Amino acid sequence: MMELEQLEKYARKRYIPVVLDDTKQLLYNTVKQAQPSRILEIGTAIGYSGIVMLSACADARLNTVEISESNAALAKSNFEQFGYADRVNIFVGDALQIVPMLSGSYDFIFLDGPKAQYGKLFDYLNDLLTVGGTLVCDNVLYKGLVEHVPQDKRHKHITVARNMRAFLDEIMADARYDTVLHRVGDGVTVSVKRTN
Ligand SMILES: C[S@@+](CC[C@H](N)C(=O)[O-])C[C@H]1O[C@@H](n2cnc3c(N)ncnc32)[C@H](O)[C@@H]1O
Repeated sequence: MMELEQLEKYARKRYIPVVLDDTKQLLYNTVKQAQPSRILEIGTAIGYSGIVMLSACADARLNTVEISESNAALAKSNFEQFGYADRVNIFVGDALQIVPMLSGSYDFIFLDGPKAQYGKLFDYLNDLLTVGGTLVCDNVLYKGLVEHVPQDKRHKHITVARNMRAFLDEIMADARYDTVLHRVGDGVTVSVKRTN
């Protein structure tokens, strides 16, 4: 059976961005503590973080959204190899189209998809998350640029940096959520929803 380290090596070798090591540990611990029953993930890549989350709770089901068909195909095969295929649904397509069409509720959401679109997605994700549920967002400090947004309009990452900054300010100030910003990896928020 494939080990998680092998999968991580596979991803790094091919420059597929999967969660960094300390982020992986934070995600694992957070899921382990929350013991959710329904997890939604935006940004499957090849299934690495999905496998991390499923390994932390025996009963959870995972719905995960990925825009790249080739990534989704690799993720499917990886979920099978790790013995999790029967607990996972992969939705292939643009999260901005798929998420607004989702129904039902989730008690854990991991947002790790299109970096410039967290604010837009959050409006829908908030409706899907149960009170008491947890929202984890990766890359909220985005290469250090969120706290030092570039002034040069031609900067390659300016749109992501600006949008992520607006999202981070919004979630930190949102009274419906208790949010902690963890300065690990590329910056991770863990938010517990207190009320609708
Ligand atoms: C950082 S990677 C996810 C890594 C994964 N969560 C892990 O740690 O194993 C981001 C993923 O989001 C996907 N993505 C980017 N834009 C998207 C969109 N609009 N809808 C769905 N997925 C998207 C990318 O193809 C990529 O695989």
